[in-house]
Amino acid sequence: MLKRKDLWRLGFHLMPPEGWLNDPNGLCQFRGLYHVFFQYAPKEAGPDGRPARTWGHYAGKDLMDLKFQGVPFWPTDAEDHDGCYSGSAVADGDKIRLYYTGNVKQPGEHDYTYSGREANEILVETDGKNFGEKRTVLRNRDYPEDCTCHVRDPKVWKENGTWYMVLGARVKSPEQTAEADRGEVLFYESGDGFSWKLLKTLSSTERFGYMWECPDYFELGGKTFLSLCPQGVPAEEFRYQNIYQAGYYTVKGELRGKQTLHSFREWDYGFDFYAPQTFTDENGRRILFGWIGMPDHPYGNPTAERGWENCLTVPRLLTAEDGVICQNPVPELAGLRYHETMIMPRETFCLPDGTGDFEICFLEGTEEQEWKISFGGAAELSFRDGVLQLSVAENAGYGRTVRKVKTDRIEFLRILVDTSVLEIYADDGKIVLTTRYYPDYQGERQDLAVQFHCPSAAITGWRIH
Ligand code: FRU
Repeated sequence: MLKRKDLWRLGFHLMPPEGWLNDPNGLCQFRGLYHVFFQYAPKEAGPDGRPARTWGHYAGKDLMDLKFQGVPFWPTDAEDHDGCYSGSAVADGDKIRLYYTGNVKQPGEHDYTYSGREANEILVETDGKNFGEKRTVLRNRDYPEDCTCHVRDPKVWKENGTWYMVLGARVKSPEQTAEADRGEVLFYESGDGFSWKLLKTLSSTERFGYMWECPDYFELGGKTFLSLCPQGVPAEEFRYQNIYQAGYYTVKGELRGKQTLHSFREWDYGFDFYAPQTFTDENGRRILFGWIGMPDHPYGNPTAERGWENCLTVPRLLTAEDGVICQNPVPELAGLRYHETMIMPRETFCLPDGTGDFEICFLEGTEEQEWKISFGGAAELSFRDGVLQLSVAENAGYGRTVRKVKTDRIEFLRILVDTSVLEIYADDGKIVLTTRYYPDYQGERQDLAVQFHCPSAAITGWRIH
């Protein structure tokens, strides 16, 4: 019998060749080559015969043409026995330094939150092809005493000759419960990137969840931002809809002095977005990749039975306006466009391979805005009474239903459609919604009919290579 092509495999998003992918890791550009590592659980067992959570590696000159390079290292050492967890990269001189968390679950009866887990921060040097020895630079005893065993995800950078690391942490409450523990970040400093000492801890004035994962710290547009993924934040009608969140604070004060955190803002309002990481490339652009997925989410992942799960967002170029970060696909993506079509406001545009790119400009002077766009009946984006709503149809959502964002009006939309992913960028990327969705491509043809009901819009559509 003819083996059917998997029509949910993606056209222009990074996904694992097979197996499971989560967080983007180790993002950098070194001697012209981009490196995108990611949390990876390949289908094949590690060299010691055990299933592994480790890193996978993509690299290439062009962000739109990255090729899978394999697994750079495996969790085969005492310091990372139960996983090479998330981390980051610094291109420095003639090497890239990779820092990640070696996760170790000690034998015996443990809850692994308050006892029995080691979190080792490990350094591996590479030229991008060959990976050196692992070297442990921080261990449990180096973290503040009030930390639980959940300390991880080093984001490292170098500034004025000093190395800095920010780690995510869960701080113990007297009750030792998720309701009372508190998320915070730990800052370390180092003269050489090998021996580190605690600089300070930082948290929000009011408790915001029990754990902060995957921190990132950077400057953009004259402001400082701390990005993180809090767990345990209660859902609200228009915010914090997912099981865990991903967002950023504006930071006031100097890194080496006292700092405070202000106005947490979510990166993305869709169903599937977590653990973003940023880096600056050799042109000084601040670029973000996020995981299109979420840990412990209640939705189905129907590609699992096809042997692969999850993907990354397209690289997003970041700019900041008045403390709000705008995310937009890097300009390179426009190079994949072909077959440009002007679409009438009430028209259907057919995507024969389920991939496309749309720009929708709502005409000025239209006070009353009400419109909707349907993606093959599998998902719908609509705007009405100041609410932007993304709905996924029951048979295409595997539990994903509705996400809503409040906003006065929308002037511009860019929508990336990629077989089983939608990335929706509204108003210069101030609001972004990312989701998986699974249109029924089981028929003979794999068309996706995108229907527009946008009375006052100028719409341009492209297919994507
Ligand atoms: C976030 C996360 C990280 C951890 C990694 C393990 O999704 O839980 O905190 O390092 O995934 O795969």
